[in-house]
Amino acid sequence: MKVLAIESTCDETAAAVVESFGNGVRVLKNIVASSVEMHQKYGGIVPEVAAREQVKSIIPVVLEAMEGEEIDAVAVSYGPGLMGSLLIGVETAKALVWAWNKPLLRVNHMAAHILANWIGAEVPELPAVGLVVSGGHTDLILMESLTKWTWIGGTRDDAVGEAFDKTARLLGLPYPGGPEVDKAASKVTEEEWTKDKNQFKLPRPLIHDPRLDMSFSGIKAAVARMVEVQKELDEKTKNLIAREFSEAVVEVLVKKTLKAIEVYQPKSVILAGGVAANRKLRDTLGREVEQAGRKFFVPDLKYCGDNAAMVGAAAIMRPEKSELDLRPEPSLAVV
Ligand code: KG4
Ligand code: ZN
Repeated sequence: MKVLAIESTCDETAAAVVESFGNGVRVLKNIVASSVEMHQKYGGIVPEVAAREQVKSIIPVVLEAMEGEEIDAVAVSYGPGLMGSLLIGVETAKALVWAWNKPLLRVNHMAAHILANWIGAEVPELPAVGLVVSGGHTDLILMESLTKWTWIGGTRDDAVGEAFDKTARLLGLPYPGGPEVDKAASKVTEEEWTKDKNQFKLPRPLIHDPRLDMSFSGIKAAVARMVEVQKELDEKTKNLIAREFSEAVVEVLVKKTLKAIEVYQPKSVILAGGVAANRKLRDTLGREVEQAGRKFFVPDLKYCGDNAAMVGAAAIMRPEKSELDLRPEPSLAVV
Protein backbone atom coordinates (compact mmCIF):
# COMPACT_ATOMS: atom_id res chain seq x y z
CA MET A 1 0.00 0.00 0.00
CA LYS A 2 1.16 3.53 -0.86
CA VAL A 3 -0.11 6.49 1.16
CA LEU A 4 -0.01 10.26 0.81
CA ALA A 5 0.35 11.55 4.39
CA ILE A 6 -0.34 15.09 5.57
CA GLU A 7 0.86 16.73 8.80
CA SER A 8 -0.27 20.21 9.94
CA THR A 9 -0.74 20.03 13.71
CA CYS A 10 1.47 22.99 14.69
CA ASP A 11 4.00 25.11 12.74
CA GLU A 12 5.17 22.50 10.23
CA THR A 13 3.28 21.87 6.99
CA ALA A 14 4.38 18.48 5.70
CA ALA A 15 3.45 15.88 3.10
CA ALA A 16 5.03 12.51 2.45
CA VAL A 17 4.53 9.47 0.26
CA VAL A 18 5.20 6.26 2.15
CA GLU A 19 4.73 2.58 1.27
CA SER A 20 4.77 -0.73 3.11
CA PHE A 21 8.15 -2.44 3.03
CA GLY A 22 9.01 -5.71 4.83
CA ASN A 23 7.62 -5.46 8.37
CA GLY A 24 7.70 -1.68 8.30
CA VAL A 25 7.55 1.20 5.86
CA ARG A 26 9.75 2.98 3.35
CA VAL A 27 9.65 6.72 2.64
CA LEU A 28 9.49 7.78 -1.01
CA LYS A 29 8.94 11.52 -0.50
CA ASN A 30 9.25 13.67 2.60
CA ILE A 31 8.53 17.39 2.23
CA VAL A 32 8.47 19.76 5.23
CA ALA A 33 7.83 23.52 5.27
CA SER A 34 8.15 25.27 8.62
CA SER A 35 6.97 28.67 9.86
CA VAL A 36 9.32 28.48 12.86
CA GLU A 37 11.26 31.59 11.80
CA MET A 38 8.06 33.68 11.89
CA HIS A 39 7.52 32.66 15.53
CA GLN A 40 11.07 33.39 16.65
CA LYS A 41 10.52 37.10 17.20
CA TYR A 42 7.60 36.28 19.54
CA GLY A 43 9.60 33.65 21.48
CA GLY A 44 6.95 30.98 20.84
CA ILE A 45 4.24 29.77 18.49
CA VAL A 46 1.51 32.28 17.62
CA PRO A 47 -1.44 30.04 16.62
CA GLU A 48 -2.99 32.53 14.20
CA VAL A 49 0.34 33.03 12.39
CA ALA A 50 0.88 29.23 12.25
CA ALA A 51 -2.56 28.66 10.71
CA ARG A 52 -2.08 31.37 8.07
CA GLU A 53 1.27 29.88 7.09
CA GLN A 54 -0.33 26.42 6.86
CA VAL A 55 -2.82 27.82 4.31
CA LYS A 56 0.03 29.20 2.19
CA SER A 57 2.16 26.05 2.24
CA ILE A 58 -0.26 23.14 2.11
CA ILE A 59 -0.94 22.95 -1.65
CA PRO A 60 2.69 23.47 -2.79
CA VAL A 61 3.91 20.90 -0.25
CA VAL A 62 1.30 18.29 -1.29
CA LEU A 63 2.01 18.90 -5.01
CA GLU A 64 5.74 18.47 -4.46
CA ALA A 65 5.23 15.18 -2.59
CA MET A 66 2.79 13.85 -5.20
CA GLU A 67 4.95 14.56 -8.25
CA GLY A 68 5.07 11.35 -10.30
CA GLU A 69 3.29 9.29 -7.59
CA GLU A 70 0.16 7.11 -7.64
CA ILE A 71 -1.29 6.51 -4.18
CA ASP A 72 -3.90 4.19 -2.63
CA ALA A 73 -5.04 6.31 0.33
CA VAL A 74 -4.64 9.70 2.04
CA ALA A 75 -3.67 9.91 5.71
CA VAL A 76 -3.83 12.97 7.95
CA SER A 77 -2.98 13.91 11.57
CA TYR A 78 -6.25 15.00 13.22
CA GLY A 79 -4.85 15.79 16.69
CA PRO A 80 -3.50 16.68 19.15
CA GLY A 81 -2.46 20.15 18.02
CA LEU A 82 -3.63 23.69 17.31
CA MET A 83 -7.18 23.90 15.96
CA GLY A 84 -6.40 26.45 13.22
CA SER A 85 -3.40 24.45 11.97
CA LEU A 86 -5.16 21.09 12.18
CA LEU A 87 -8.13 22.32 10.14
CA ILE A 88 -5.91 23.06 7.13
CA GLY A 89 -4.49 19.52 6.90
CA VAL A 90 -7.76 17.75 7.72
CA GLU A 91 -9.86 19.75 5.23
CA THR A 92 -7.23 19.37 2.49
CA ALA A 93 -7.10 15.59 3.02
CA LYS A 94 -10.90 15.38 2.88
CA ALA A 95 -11.05 17.39 -0.36
CA LEU A 96 -8.38 15.16 -1.93
CA VAL A 97 -10.03 11.83 -1.04
CA TRP A 98 -13.34 13.14 -2.29
CA ALA A 99 -11.84 14.27 -5.59
CA TRP A 100 -9.70 11.15 -6.06
CA ASN A 101 -12.23 8.66 -4.64
CA LYS A 102 -9.64 7.15 -2.26
CA PRO A 103 -9.94 6.03 1.37
CA LEU A 104 -9.19 8.52 4.18
CA LEU A 105 -7.05 7.35 7.13
CA ARG A 106 -6.95 9.37 10.34
CA VAL A 107 -3.77 9.45 12.42
CA ASN A 108 -3.06 10.41 16.03
CA HIS A 109 -0.02 12.72 15.86
CA MET A 110 1.56 11.34 19.06
CA ALA A 111 1.11 7.73 17.91
CA ALA A 112 2.77 8.80 14.64
CA HIS A 113 5.84 10.05 16.56
CA ILE A 114 6.16 6.56 18.08
CA LEU A 115 5.43 4.71 14.82
CA ALA A 116 8.21 6.70 13.09
CA ASN A 117 10.32 3.86 14.51
CA TRP A 118 8.78 1.56 11.87
CA ILE A 119 10.52 3.50 9.09
CA GLY A 120 13.46 1.41 7.91
CA ALA A 121 14.60 -2.15 7.55
CA GLU A 122 14.70 -3.18 11.21
CA VAL A 123 11.52 -2.61 13.22
CA PRO A 124 10.94 -2.91 16.99
CA GLU A 125 9.86 -6.24 18.40
CA LEU A 126 6.81 -6.05 20.69
CA PRO A 127 6.00 -5.76 23.54
CA ALA A 128 7.79 -2.44 23.75
CA VAL A 129 7.93 0.50 26.11
CA GLY A 130 7.66 3.81 24.26
CA LEU A 131 8.95 7.08 25.68
CA VAL A 132 7.43 9.97 23.76
CA VAL A 133 8.88 13.40 24.48
CA SER A 134 7.71 16.50 22.64
CA GLY A 135 6.69 20.12 23.16
CA GLY A 136 3.34 19.15 24.65
CA HIS A 137 3.80 15.55 25.85
CA THR A 138 5.99 13.36 28.01
CA ASP A 139 4.52 9.87 28.24
CA LEU A 140 5.54 6.28 28.79
CA ILE A 141 3.42 3.83 26.79
CA LEU A 142 3.30 0.06 26.99
CA MET A 143 2.77 -1.35 23.48
CA GLU A 144 1.68 -4.98 23.66
CA SER A 145 0.78 -4.99 19.96
CA LEU A 146 0.45 -2.38 17.23
CA THR A 147 -3.06 -1.62 18.46
CA LYS A 148 -3.02 -2.46 22.18
CA TRP A 149 -1.37 0.50 23.92
CA THR A 150 -1.59 1.48 27.59
CA TRP A 151 -0.43 4.73 29.20
CA ILE A 152 1.85 3.71 32.08
CA GLY A 153 3.35 7.02 33.21
CA GLY A 154 4.36 10.54 32.33
CA THR A 155 4.67 14.12 33.46
CA ARG A 156 2.33 15.63 36.02
CA ASP A 157 3.05 19.16 34.81
CA ASP A 158 5.30 20.52 32.03
CA ALA A 159 6.32 18.42 29.04
CA VAL A 160 10.08 17.99 28.60
CA GLY A 161 10.14 20.03 25.37
CA GLU A 162 8.26 22.84 27.11
CA ALA A 163 10.84 22.79 29.94
CA PHE A 164 13.65 23.00 27.34
CA ASP A 165 11.92 25.92 25.60
CA LYS A 166 11.33 27.81 28.88
CA THR A 167 14.90 27.19 30.05
CA ALA A 168 16.17 28.55 26.74
CA ARG A 169 14.11 31.69 27.22
CA LEU A 170 15.53 32.16 30.75
CA LEU A 171 19.03 31.84 29.30
CA GLY A 172 18.25 34.34 26.55
CA LEU A 173 18.47 31.71 23.80
CA PRO A 174 16.14 31.87 20.77
CA TYR A 175 12.99 29.79 20.11
CA PRO A 176 12.66 26.81 19.69
CA GLY A 177 14.82 26.33 22.74
CA GLY A 178 15.46 22.59 22.75
CA PRO A 179 18.12 22.52 20.03
CA GLU A 180 19.70 25.74 21.43
CA VAL A 181 20.01 24.33 24.97
CA ASP A 182 21.38 21.11 23.44
CA LYS A 183 23.99 23.12 21.50
CA ALA A 184 24.95 25.28 24.51
CA ALA A 185 25.27 22.20 26.75
CA SER A 186 27.57 20.49 24.25
CA LYS A 187 30.02 23.43 24.37
CA VAL A 188 31.00 22.55 27.95
CA THR A 189 34.17 20.45 27.94
CA GLU A 190 34.43 17.47 30.32
CA GLU A 191 37.25 19.29 32.10
CA GLU A 192 35.12 22.40 32.69
CA TRP A 193 32.22 20.23 33.77
CA THR A 194 34.21 18.29 36.38
CA LYS A 195 35.57 21.55 37.76
CA ASP A 196 32.33 23.60 37.86
CA LYS A 197 29.37 21.22 38.09
CA ASN A 198 28.94 21.55 41.86
CA GLN A 199 28.10 25.23 41.50
CA PHE A 200 25.12 24.45 39.26
CA LYS A 201 23.02 21.80 40.95
CA LEU A 202 19.41 21.41 39.80
CA PRO A 203 16.83 19.05 41.35
CA ARG A 204 15.80 15.68 39.82
CA PRO A 205 12.11 15.74 40.83
CA LEU A 206 10.46 12.39 41.71
CA ILE A 207 13.56 10.47 40.65
CA HIS A 208 13.38 8.20 43.71
CA ASP A 209 9.59 7.81 43.52
CA PRO A 210 8.85 4.18 42.61
CA ARG A 211 5.99 5.18 40.30
CA LEU A 212 6.44 6.27 36.68
CA ASP A 213 5.29 9.83 37.43
CA MET A 214 7.55 12.66 36.31
CA SER A 215 7.68 16.42 36.91
CA PHE A 216 9.66 19.05 35.05
CA SER A 217 8.20 22.38 36.20
CA GLY A 218 10.37 22.31 39.35
CA ILE A 219 13.60 22.00 37.34
CA LYS A 220 12.57 24.96 35.20
CA ALA A 221 11.69 27.04 38.31
CA ALA A 222 15.10 26.16 39.78
CA VAL A 223 16.75 27.37 36.56
CA ALA A 224 14.88 30.68 36.98
CA ARG A 225 16.25 31.06 40.53
CA MET A 226 19.74 30.06 39.41
CA VAL A 227 19.69 32.67 36.64
CA GLU A 228 18.45 35.34 39.06
CA VAL A 229 21.36 34.93 41.47
CA GLN A 230 24.07 35.05 38.78
CA LYS A 231 26.06 38.28 38.87
CA GLU A 232 26.61 37.95 35.16
CA LEU A 233 24.98 35.56 32.73
CA ASP A 234 27.99 35.21 30.47
CA GLU A 235 28.34 32.61 27.71
CA LYS A 236 30.20 30.13 29.91
CA THR A 237 27.64 30.32 32.73
CA LYS A 238 24.79 29.88 30.23
CA ASN A 239 26.47 26.80 28.79
CA LEU A 240 27.03 25.31 32.24
CA ILE A 241 23.38 25.87 33.24
CA ALA A 242 22.24 24.36 29.91
CA ARG A 243 24.51 21.36 30.58
CA GLU A 244 23.17 20.82 34.13
CA PHE A 245 19.58 21.21 32.90
CA SER A 246 20.17 18.56 30.21
CA GLU A 247 21.86 16.27 32.75
CA ALA A 248 18.92 16.58 35.17
CA VAL A 249 16.22 15.98 32.56
CA VAL A 250 18.01 13.05 30.94
CA GLU A 251 18.72 11.45 34.32
CA VAL A 252 15.00 11.53 35.22
CA LEU A 253 13.88 10.21 31.81
CA VAL A 254 16.45 7.40 31.85
CA LYS A 255 15.66 6.38 35.43
CA LYS A 256 11.91 6.22 34.75
CA THR A 257 12.38 4.26 31.52
CA LEU A 258 14.63 1.74 33.32
CA LYS A 259 11.92 1.42 35.97
CA ALA A 260 9.35 0.74 33.22
CA ILE A 261 11.66 -1.98 31.81
CA GLU A 262 11.89 -3.60 35.25
CA VAL A 263 8.11 -3.58 35.73
CA TYR A 264 6.91 -4.46 32.21
CA GLN A 265 9.83 -6.53 30.82
CA PRO A 266 9.52 -5.33 27.19
CA LYS A 267 11.64 -6.68 24.32
CA SER A 268 12.30 -3.19 22.94
CA VAL A 269 12.39 0.41 24.10
CA ILE A 270 11.34 3.14 21.69
CA LEU A 271 12.22 6.83 21.97
CA ALA A 272 10.17 9.33 19.95
CA GLY A 273 9.05 12.97 19.58
CA GLY A 274 10.87 16.25 18.99
CA VAL A 275 13.06 15.93 22.12
CA ALA A 276 14.29 12.54 20.81
CA ALA A 277 16.62 14.69 18.67
CA ASN A 278 18.53 15.53 21.87
CA ARG A 279 22.01 14.03 21.64
CA LYS A 280 22.49 13.37 25.32
CA LEU A 281 19.10 11.67 25.62
CA ARG A 282 19.62 9.47 22.52
CA ASP A 283 23.10 8.41 23.63
CA THR A 284 22.47 7.88 27.34
CA LEU A 285 19.11 6.13 26.98
CA GLY A 286 20.41 3.95 24.14
CA ARG A 287 23.38 2.82 26.21
CA GLU A 288 21.36 2.13 29.36
CA VAL A 289 18.60 0.26 27.53
CA GLU A 290 21.12 -1.99 25.81
CA GLN A 291 22.86 -2.60 29.12
CA ALA A 292 19.48 -3.73 30.44
CA GLY A 293 19.42 -6.29 27.60
CA ARG A 294 16.68 -4.66 25.49
CA LYS A 295 16.77 -3.38 21.92
CA PHE A 296 16.74 0.39 21.57
CA PHE A 297 15.02 2.25 18.74
CA VAL A 298 15.01 5.97 17.92
CA PRO A 299 14.05 7.54 14.56
CA ASP A 300 16.57 9.26 12.27
CA LEU A 301 16.86 12.93 13.23
CA LYS A 302 14.69 13.99 10.27
CA TYR A 303 11.80 11.87 11.60
CA CYS A 304 12.01 13.11 15.24
CA GLY A 305 10.50 16.59 14.83
CA ASP A 306 7.12 17.01 13.16
CA ASN A 307 7.02 15.42 9.69
CA ALA A 308 4.54 13.59 7.48
CA ALA A 309 6.57 10.41 6.92
CA MET A 310 5.73 9.37 10.48
CA VAL A 311 2.04 10.02 9.74
CA GLY A 312 2.29 7.70 6.73
CA ALA A 313 4.08 5.10 8.85
CA ALA A 314 1.28 5.22 11.42
CA ALA A 315 -1.40 4.94 8.71
CA ILE A 316 0.24 1.83 7.28
CA MET A 317 1.16 0.11 10.55
CA ARG A 318 -2.08 0.95 12.39
CA PRO A 319 -4.72 1.96 9.80
CA GLU A 320 -7.83 3.76 11.07
CA LYS A 321 -10.36 4.37 8.31
CA SER A 322 -12.36 7.56 8.55
CA GLU A 323 -15.38 9.13 6.90
CA LEU A 324 -15.57 12.59 5.36
CA ASP A 325 -17.02 14.00 8.59
CA LEU A 326 -13.57 13.79 10.26
CA ARG A 327 -12.99 16.75 12.62
CA PRO A 328 -9.72 17.89 14.21
CA GLU A 329 -9.31 16.93 17.88
CA PRO A 330 -6.90 19.47 19.45
CA SER A 331 -6.76 17.55 22.78
CA LEU A 332 -6.63 14.00 21.42
CA ALA A 333 -4.91 11.72 23.97
CA VAL A 334 -1.91 9.51 23.10
CA VAL A 335 -3.89 6.35 23.86
O1 KG4 B 1 7.49 16.70 18.41
P1 KG4 B 1 7.77 18.14 18.19
O2 KG4 B 1 8.52 18.55 16.95
O3 KG4 B 1 6.46 18.98 18.24
C1 KG4 B 1 5.42 18.64 19.11
O4 KG4 B 1 4.62 17.72 18.74
O5 KG4 B 1 5.41 19.24 20.21
O6 KG4 B 1 8.59 18.62 19.48
C2 KG4 B 1 9.04 19.95 19.61
C3 KG4 B 1 9.84 20.08 20.88
C4 KG4 B 1 10.18 21.52 21.21
O7 KG4 B 1 9.89 21.77 22.56
C5 KG4 B 1 11.69 21.57 20.94
O8 KG4 B 1 12.36 22.55 21.72
C6 KG4 B 1 12.12 20.17 21.31
O9 KG4 B 1 11.09 19.36 20.78
N1 KG4 B 1 13.42 19.79 20.75
C7 KG4 B 1 14.51 19.48 21.50
C8 KG4 B 1 15.57 19.22 20.58
N2 KG4 B 1 15.08 19.38 19.32
C9 KG4 B 1 13.77 19.72 19.44
N3 KG4 B 1 14.67 19.39 22.83
C10 KG4 B 1 15.90 19.07 23.29
N4 KG4 B 1 16.96 18.82 22.49
C11 KG4 B 1 16.85 18.90 21.14
N5 KG4 B 1 17.90 18.65 20.35
ZN1 ZN C 1 4.99 16.49 17.32
